[in-house]
Amino acid sequence: MARLSALFALTVVAVAVSAKPIVIRDAPVTLSIARRFNTTGVANILKADQARAKVLKVRSQTSNVASANAVGAVLADVNVPVTNGAVTYTASVGVGSPATTYDLIIDTGSSNTWIGADKAYVKTSTSVNTGSKVSVSYGSGSFSGEEYKDTVTIGSLVIKSQGVGVASTSSGFDGVDGILGIGPVDLTEGTTSAGGQIPTVVNTAFAAGSIGANLIGISFEPTTSESVTNGELTFGGVDASKYTGALTYVPITSTSPASDYVGIDQSITYGSAGTTILSSTAGITDTGTTLVLLASDALAKYQKATGAVLDNNTGLLKITSAQFAKLQSLFFHIGGTTYEFTPNAQIWPRALNTAIGGSASSIYLVTADLGSPSGEGLDFIDGYTFLERFYYVYDSANSRVGFATTSFTNATTN
Ligand SMILES: *[C@@H]1O[C@H](CO)[C@@H](O)[C@H](O)[C@H]1NC(C)=O
Ligand SMILES: *[C@@H]1O[C@H](CO)[C@@H](O)[C@H](O)[C@H]1NC(C)=O
Ligand SMILES: *[C@@H]1O[C@H](CO)[C@@H](O)[C@H](O)[C@H]1NC(C)=O
Repeated sequence: MARLSALFALTVVAVAVSAKPIVIRDAPVTLSIARRFNTTGVANILKADQARAKVLKVRSQTSNVASANAVGAVLADVNVPVTNGAVTYTASVGVGSPATTYDLIIDTGSSNTWIGADKAYVKTSTSVNTGSKVSVSYGSGSFSGEEYKDTVTIGSLVIKSQGVGVASTSSGFDGVDGILGIGPVDLTEGTTSAGGQIPTVVNTAFAAGSIGANLIGISFEPTTSESVTNGELTFGGVDASKYTGALTYVPITSTSPASDYVGIDQSITYGSAGTTILSSTAGITDTGTTLVLLASDALAKYQKATGAVLDNNTGLLKITSAQFAKLQSLFFHIGGTTYEFTPNAQIWPRALNTAIGGSASSIYLVTADLGSPSGEGLDFIDGYTFLERFYYVYDSANSRVGFATTSFTNATTN
């Protein structure tokens, strides 16, 4: 009886508490993002993407280790060359008060936010050194330094006491200042000497009531320019003006290691005959990867279907004009929805061929080799050449991913 009444009392308190706060949350906050292309950097984007893929697979196996040193030891074994990503989407993010602005790579494949690769950290009265060391390796680069807390300003969104890594050393990030990590918060586990997790900017803004939902909407657009501001991040909501038709969600895959990322289950067919390229399997969506990477056996099927040959200079598949004229759509089957990746979407923007070490008159395909066979729980990466054709939502609160067609889905930009 005593226990019952205690329980009752607790229930009453819980009701009173939950009925009380009516938090007025701000509308979603949008931020323009720029696509930048560093033609003087390492031209082989495939090498950078494959190095990243390799580390993404290994990282999750180390997610439970407590210290950054242990993660570093495992990553050292991966032994991938440090290369420059060459192509990135970046956002201008303020840190400190008054804020210094940093150009940060937008990354759904990692979750630490850090600065200092290029422009040095300018400390202000809001800067707090947490005393812990931080270190993350990305395959296509790495950084280590000290973990701070500071005020982060993203557009009109002011995020107080956000964890920010300050690099003392970094490699692979020439021309940018660091990363805005907006992937699953679990990826921050074990990245600092203090242990535990570092809430992402989205988590912190949501916890403070500054945005109404713990999600992020992402709009990219295909472009033939080396530098252009044509993308948009929406914190706490989606921008309905950026997509056409329905926004359809699928749960994060349950297959490891893809489940540690913004991972999904997907199958891929080619053309009107529905030739299977990739049987239903787990992989990830990732704004930090340039290409669409498929497990080697799946890529071989695509190569056969298209008649493409491997180009030694770029590492990409290459087709002739006659093959391009006959190229059919790839169909990405995600949940109950099919997303058509048109022939034009499948080719690298021809205006940017020479920037990746290719020849101006050739036609290169953006679908490339993951560098490992299927059946390993991370069998594809839908990088931003895919995401440029579809609106993309990472709803971490509900562990799901949304896609919608856009006015660029069928564009013939490339
Ligand atoms: C491009 O990359 C090179 C070398 O990787 C670097 O020195 C340079 O600062 C970068 N430039 C821009 C504009 O990002
Ligand atoms: C590409 O390189 C491989 C070996 O490195 C060679 O066998 C092949 O002939 C080369 N292909 C072309 C088109 O140059
Ligand atoms: C793209 O084109 C296909 C057929 O060519 C059509 O079925 C589809 O509705 C178009 N998608 C969009 C988003 O316009």
